[in-house]
Amino acid sequence: MKELSGKISLVTGGSRGIGKAIAMALAESGSDVVVDFHHNKDKADEVVSACQGLGVRSAGYQCDIADADAVEKLVAQVNQDFGPIHIVVNNAGINRDRSFAKMTRAMWDEVINVDLGGPFNVIHSTLPAMLEAKWGRIINITSLVGQTGNFGQANYSAAKGGLHSFTMTLAREVARKGITANCVSPGFTETDMTAGMPEKVIEQVNAMIPMGRMGTPEEVAHAVVFLASARAGYITGEEIAVNGGMFMG
Ligand code: NAI
Repeated sequence: MKELSGKISLVTGGSRGIGKAIAMALAESGSDVVVDFHHNKDKADEVVSACQGLGVRSAGYQCDIADADAVEKLVAQVNQDFGPIHIVVNNAGINRDRSFAKMTRAMWDEVINVDLGGPFNVIHSTLPAMLEAKWGRIINITSLVGQTGNFGQANYSAAKGGLHSFTMTLAREVARKGITANCVSPGFTETDMTAGMPEKVIEQVNAMIPMGRMGTPEEVAHAVVFLASARAGYITGEEIAVNGGMFMG
């Protein structure tokens, strides 16, 4: 028996980057894995096949997490196909960066609707089954910039900071129901989100990181698996930073 055998996990935005690494790490730990993807079915299918290759049940479902009705349908379908979800990882996220003076209301709304509204929709639809089971794990992927703010990211840092405080409130509300709610807060991590950065900027970023390098998606995934496990049963309302030492406060 692996430590997450018998559990069913949902990972949003699980077709690439940090979400892919989380899906794979959960599968390695024995959990069945449901991969939510937005557009890229081929990439999601690759993750699903890789998870199945690790001996667990896995399937991909297309869903825009900003769409509450679509999320409700997704969760109902997963309940039918797999059973009730035990572990939710709200990983999907976007950024639309611009200095605040130039940021449009549409850029603000888009990021808030996905990065904060998405977790609302997913947790709202999955929490009833966790309450019934008297067991659940909610893990929200936040960001270093939700703790520090960042030039050009008023929308993104507000969404991620809000997701952290939302998680702390949720943790208090469900603490006596066998459910934990925590965040994992990555720093700069090597994914498509950072791949577009010019070489010079990457050098500057690495110079700012005490460990001198960006993190890997797998390093973020390890923290998620720990929080999903029985070993983390007494940890709730926490935010674990995986950022190479960037935020020591
Ligand atoms: P990524 O851009 O490679 O992946 C994000 C995933 O979310 C993609 O699969 C995308 O299709 C999905 N997605 C976006 N909008 C969606 C929607 N409306 N519905 C469903 N899925 C949607 O990003 P990465 O780097 O893997 O980021 C994963 C999480 O980690 C995000 O929440 C991000 O904010 C966070 N993060 C990433 C950092 C980094 O340096 N890469 C640093 C700190 C936090």
